[in-house]
Amino acid sequence: MNKRIVVVGSCNTDMVIRVDHLPLPGETIIGHDFITNQGGKGANQAVAAKRLGSETAFIARLGNDDFGKNSLRLLTEEGIDTQFVSLTEGISTGVALIPVDDKGENSIIVSSGANALLSTDDIVAAEPLFREAAILLMQLETPIATLISAARMAKHYGAKVVLNPAPYPKEPLPAELLEMVDVITPNETEAARMSGVKVTDEGSALEAIRAIQRQGVADVIITAGAAGAYTATDGQLVCIPTNKVDVVDTTAAGDTFCGALCVALCKGEDFTEAIRFANKAASLSVTRIGAWRSIPYEKEILSTLNHNS
Ligand code: RIB
Repeated sequence: MNKRIVVVGSCNTDMVIRVDHLPLPGETIIGHDFITNQGGKGANQAVAAKRLGSETAFIARLGNDDFGKNSLRLLTEEGIDTQFVSLTEGISTGVALIPVDDKGENSIIVSSGANALLSTDDIVAAEPLFREAAILLMQLETPIATLISAARMAKHYGAKVVLNPAPYPKEPLPAELLEMVDVITPNETEAARMSGVKVTDEGSALEAIRAIQRQGVADVIITAGAAGAYTATDGQLVCIPTNKVDVVDTTAAGDTFCGALCVALCKGEDFTEAIRFANKAASLSVTRIGAWRSIPYEKEILSTLNHNS
């Protein structure tokens, strides 16, 4: 059975400043510490998948600048297969500006740079990766046409397609893409955008899940921060709670969840167990600042699971 996870998506350099509160429109505020660290939803998910125990390949575009070269080196040092991560002339690597407040909440502005140039040609070139893929994992910081090509390639080779619909675009996601998606992982806001149902409690979560399933996706997981995650089995809502932790920074918690979920699914875990594992990984990530900096390793999850069992 194939075990490889192929991640298609973005890679950014994150510039993070701790603040007392997120700035209002027109407001200038004085923040605290500044850190640069590796990020981008695609790269975060690839790093999570690799650190948590899966053979992982990443397909992405970076600028041929210092940020891009550094990102490529660090991705490779993580042990991720980067043969289809390319450096592109004449455009900058993606950058994200992230203030993080004292409750661990953030707001994120992304300048896509080279991420916006990831193309169907890049997917076609990376075809060998798909031959041994168990799961294709994607998000929405790269062009949707490229994601459709990747999903088609994954389906051709019998891989499962997992989509994290973040950031949710202005236009609804095309049916052509959703029909190829096996598992989708919106947060409550994205679930509301997709379904038209405001997710406030268990009843509305089930209503939203059913509305998204009617768009062609069999398995829907709504991630709900401290409340854990919701899914539906045989039409019934299943709530999978998460640990209570001291939140430092929620950046990349959703990405860690997605990477971890795919690792557990690759190992053949039952769906609910896979969500439990993903909750555990995400809950550890929010206890630390930054994106890659916060993503846990397999041994950390196993040791906490043992402590709690
Ligand atoms: O999901 C968190 C990520 O969103 C950050 O790392 C930032 O780069 C943006 O892509």
